[in-house]
Amino acid sequence: MDQLGRVTPDERKQALDAIATEVAVCTRCPLHIQRTRAVPGEGHTETEVVFVGEGPGYNEDREGRPFVGAAGGLLNELLKAIGWRRDEVFITNVVKCRPPSNRDPEPTEVAACAPYLQRQLAVLDPAVVVTLGRHSLGTFMPGSRISAVHGTTRATDPESGAASATTYAMYHPAAALRQGTLKETMLTDMAGLPEVLIQARERRTSTTTLDAPLVSAQELMEPPVELPIEAAVAAPYVDNSATVIELDAVETATVVATAPASSTEPQLELFG
Ligand code: URA
Ligand code: SF4
Repeated sequence: MDQLGRVTPDERKQALDAIATEVAVCTRCPLHIQRTRAVPGEGHTETEVVFVGEGPGYNEDREGRPFVGAAGGLLNELLKAIGWRRDEVFITNVVKCRPPSNRDPEPTEVAACAPYLQRQLAVLDPAVVVTLGRHSLGTFMPGSRISAVHGTTRATDPESGAASATTYAMYHPAAALRQGTLKETMLTDMAGLPEVLIQARERRTSTTTLDAPLVSAQELMEPPVELPIEAAVAAPYVDNSATVIELDAVETATVVATAPASSTEPQLELFG
């Protein structure tokens, strides 16, 4: 913890690594029997956005990384469409080991694996949880039909581990690969995500400002990237809209306004 009682980036990374180490050798459900590698998940440890898929497929099982096959390619493409990269968000699954022949995970397997997702969410404390597909939806919006709720939000149940998040429902990229018309729907839903993030920040900063994530030292050391204001505000891992005001108050502001020669509009110079 820092002086203000906030989790530091190092502590967050250590906690996520510890969970991944447990997952790698987990035998809590029968999915461990046929796995090649468990797939704990990966991404930016200071992110505000966590994507939760269903479970590893063939490629993920071999590599030990989430969404590296065809569905992952589409997920990357969808993120690119809004100017985000996968290493700026966190990507994981409801079950961490591949169901044989990519069958649906059993409810008992989902339940056995749930504590890992819960702990990951508690550590990451995201503003937005994006559910990908039916099984993830079932965990975060039980009883909902994906065709009815995709592209919509709901307050995330704190029991999920995410203490103050908004859930945003999306189809699974694999569904869009099987059914081409869904790709357009997924692009539309993804295009709504930056605004969902902004609203999710507003929703929770009214109650949890001091829990806002810190900017990592590594981010501070990277060269500043100039982004248009809208993009900077919607970037998924530096809480400009809320945290910076808080950080300002303790004199560690990370965003400065500059006026580039090419424009009369002030631009945000974003470190990270
Ligand atoms: N599908 C998923 O749900 N998760 C992955 O990691 C890959 C494909
Ligand atoms: Fe453990 Fe989850 Fe893998 Fe089952 S799916 S063995 S609970 S890590």
